[in-house]
Amino acid sequence: MESALEIKDLTVSFSSEGRKVEVVSGVSLSIPQGRIVGVVGESGCGKTVTALSVMRLIPEPPGRIEGGEILFDGADILHLSDRDMRSLRGNRISMIFQEPISSLNPVFTVGDQIGESLRTHLNITRKEEKERVLDLLRLVGIPAPESRIKNYPYELSGGMSQRVMIAMALACSPEVLIADEPTTALDVTIQAGILELIDDLRVKMGMAVLLITHDLGIIAEVADTVYVMYAGKVVENAVTRELFKHPKHPYTVGLLNSIPDLRRSKERLDAIPGVVPSPGSFPPGCRFQDRCPLAIDKCREEEPPLSEHREGHYSACWRADEVTI
Ligand SMILES: Nc1ncnc2c1ncn2[C@@H]1O[C@H](COP(=O)(O)OP(=O)(O)OP(=O)(O)O)[C@@H](O)[C@H]1O
Ligand code: SF4
Ligand SMILES: [Mg+2]
Repeated sequence: MESALEIKDLTVSFSSEGRKVEVVSGVSLSIPQGRIVGVVGESGCGKTVTALSVMRLIPEPPGRIEGGEILFDGADILHLSDRDMRSLRGNRISMIFQEPISSLNPVFTVGDQIGESLRTHLNITRKEEKERVLDLLRLVGIPAPESRIKNYPYELSGGMSQRVMIAMALACSPEVLIADEPTTALDVTIQAGILELIDDLRVKMGMAVLLITHDLGIIAEVADTVYVMYAGKVVENAVTRELFKHPKHPYTVGLLNSIPDLRRSKERLDAIPGVVPSPGSFPPGCRFQDRCPLAIDKCREEEPPLSEHREGHYSACWRADEVTI
C-alpha cells in the first residue's frame, strides 16, 4: 500500500550542559494512505519527539535531528526550506498536540483560532471562513457552534478544548494527521466519541493518521498497524490483530498484561517492574534488559536488531521466538 508519510532511520538528540543524549534512535515507520497507525510506549520513549520531527518543530538547539529521512509527497521534509515547511504544516500535515489547553491562545476566540489556519493557507473571504469554521465545529460535534465560535478558551471544558484542537488540525483537510494522545485528559465517553470522530474523518477524507498513545486499549480499537516504542527505539511492529495475538517482544507482553482486565476487575494488573532508562544512560545491548524476564547474557552485550519473525511482524529481541503471552 502506498505510504502517505514515511520516516526512515530518524535519530534525534538533545544537549544540555554540554552533554548530548540521543532520545530517538533510528526510528523507521510508515503510514499508509487512509490508515491509522498506532505508536505506543511508556512515558519518555520518544513518541512526541518523533511526531515533532515530522512537523519540524523540534527546538534546535537544544534539539538536533542527527539523521534520517521523512518522506512526504516525493520530498524529504527534513530538507525543505522554512517557507515550504510553513505551507505544509497545519495544511497538508497537521498535528493535534498533547496538551490542548496550553496550545490554545487565551486571547483569541475559538473562531479566530480555527480561522487563522484557513486564512494562512487558503485564499478565502471572511464570510467563507466563518462558514467553514462553523462546519468544522459541527463536524467535531460541538453543540450550538454559532455561539461557541465567539467563546474564549477559558469558557470551554477539557473535552470542548480538545474538540477545538481537532477542528484546528482538520481545518485544511490534511493528508496526514498526527494525533498525540488526543484523548488522555478526557473521560471515557468523550474519549470514545473523539476516536470515532478521527476514524470517521479518516474514511470521509482519506486521511492517514499517526495515533500516539500509551494505551494499547485505544490501539486495539482503531489502529490498523502498531509500532511499539521503548527507550527511543521501535522494538516491535505488526498489524494490530497479529501483535495482540502473537506478541514477539517481552515489552509488548508487559504492556498487554497491564491493560485493565474488564472481565475481572478494573485494577491495573502486572505493571512492568522498573522504569524506562533515561536517555544518556541506556545500557549496552538491549535497552529493555533490566526489566525483561527473558534476559540472557547476550542481551547485555549485543543490541538486538529489528527483524522479521512472522510475515510482516518485526521484533527487536534475541528471544522473540520464545515470547509467549
Ligand atoms: N525540549 C527538550 N529538551 C530536552 N529533552 C527533551 C525535550 N523534549 C523531549 N526531551 C526528552 O526526550 C525524551 C523523549 O520525550 P518524548 O516527549 O518524545 O516522550 P513521549 O514518549 O512522548 O512521552 P509521554 O508519553 O510522556 O508523552 C525524554 O527523555 C524527554 O525528556
Ligand atoms: S533481547 Fe533479551 S533483554 Fe531484550 S527483550 Fe529480548 S530477551 Fe529481553
Ligand atoms: Mg509525548
